[in-house]
Amino acid sequence: MSMIDPHVSLAALVLDEPRRAELFERLGFDYCCHGESSLASACTEHDLDVDTAIRMLEASTAPSASAPEHDYDCRSASTAELCDHIVESHHERLRLELPRLVETLTTVVRVHGADDPHLSALARVFDELARDLLDHLEREEQVLFPACRALEAGEGLDRQGLLEELEHDHADVGATLPLLRELAGGYDSAAARCSTHRALLDGLQALERDLHRHIHEENNVLFPRIRSRLAA
Ligand SMILES: [Fe+2]
Ligand SMILES: [Fe+2]
Repeated sequence: MSMIDPHVSLAALVLDEPRRAELFERLGFDYCCHGESSLASACTEHDLDVDTAIRMLEASTAPSASAPEHDYDCRSASTAELCDHIVESHHERLRLELPRLVETLTTVVRVHGADDPHLSALARVFDELARDLLDHLEREEQVLFPACRALEAGEGLDRQGLLEELEHDHADVGATLPLLRELAGGYDSAAARCSTHRALLDGLQALERDLHRHIHEENNVLFPRIRSRLAA
């Protein structure tokens, strides 16, 4: 008999077993910005039989399953450790990848833009996302994370509205990612026009997966933890 309850939220399923995130990526289930959705409702939305989804979830964590890309267990980390992990694993990656992908996109638009009008739109949307994200990282690192560390050490948090602002940014990113995916033809590298275009599609897809993980760790672990400390 299955141990997975279909009424449990997507975020809780990933928190219990981080390896489940890989399957949710493949199924297109949003476990970060809409992590409160239950497995059953995500299945209904994606027209997938819930028992099939449960079998896939069980297989994804079976001992024979392939090694996961991510298996960081953020629940067992202290708040300071979690902030360090987010900066080292996600923010530093974004600071490297965003300018690199902007540059690659510029090249691809220059070479293939006339044949594919979606490429210019993709570049415009991605440029704006990259700018917004870099600003967002600064606010987290300069204001929120120091405040989280101070809160863990027993101090107060004087910018309570900041959590809402940052969550709002996450929702904007969460709404932009499907648009980028659509403009990029679902990141289907078989449809790439050249090797640079293929590298761009692979890079954008990897960035999307990492942003889902990153926002999940903030929205579903760090921010609730900070709110519960403030309420205590
Ligand atoms: Fe972040
Ligand atoms: Fe964030």
